Amino acid sequence: MNSLPIIALDFNSKEKVLQFLDLFDESLYVKVGMELFYQTGPELIQLIKERGHQIFLDLKLHDIPNTVGKAMEGLAQLDVDMVNVHAAGGTEMMRKALEGLRKHNPQTQLIAVTQLTSTTEEMLHQEQKIHSSMEEAVLNYAKLAKEAHLDGVVCSPLEARLLTEHLGEQFLKVTPGIRPKDAQTNDQKRVTTPQEAKINGSTHIVVGRPITQSQDPVAQYQKIKESWCNA
Ligand code: C5P
Repeated sequence: MNSLPIIALDFNSKEKVLQFLDLFDESLYVKVGMELFYQTGPELIQLIKERGHQIFLDLKLHDIPNTVGKAMEGLAQLDVDMVNVHAAGGTEMMRKALEGLRKHNPQTQLIAVTQLTSTTEEMLHQEQKIHSSMEEAVLNYAKLAKEAHLDGVVCSPLEARLLTEHLGEQFLKVTPGIRPKDAQTNDQKRVTTPQEAKINGSTHIVVGRPITQSQDPVAQYQKIKESWCNA
């Protein structure tokens, strides 16, 4: 079955989120990131769940393995659909994250951020001292995530094909950087349309501003959903 496009709820208050959700009369898949979660906490997660929506809690945990494992034990109790960590924390950290999550929750999917799309190849070489190409660096992190038994990764839709070739179709490729034809790219540099993302092997797309800042968010969501699901 096709996953729903994941709407990035990049709002700064609970009221704005609920106002946005009230526009829709169907179940959505939404992403709550750190901006919102640090201000509204578990209460908002509960309110979104009560409305029947699926949630990707995008907190990108990255700390020593023990701390991440314990933090995941707490997050597991929110019973969301997907959570994530930074692959840069290493396989031991990813294993502990999964162990913590599974203590209270058998089904929440756990994925890893590979390289942020804000990281350029120059930053990779000059600052992180990783001397491979961006694609190789992303593939390396994705392989580590698979070794640690995670469900998949966050990556650019342009890397999804390579990851599918090496790690299989079942390994999740959750991809932001999605813009419908004719939409503004904003600050995203490497973008594809929903259709191209599907063809490249993305299993989930994350779309924010093209929907949330639209004059007609519902119509825009329907258009994106159609082009993603029918690709
Ligand atoms: O508005 P836009 O469609 O660009 O939103 C994309 C969402 O995906 C934002 O919440 C952004 O923080 C997130 N994201 C991203 N690139 C990553 C990881 C997350 O754009 N590598």
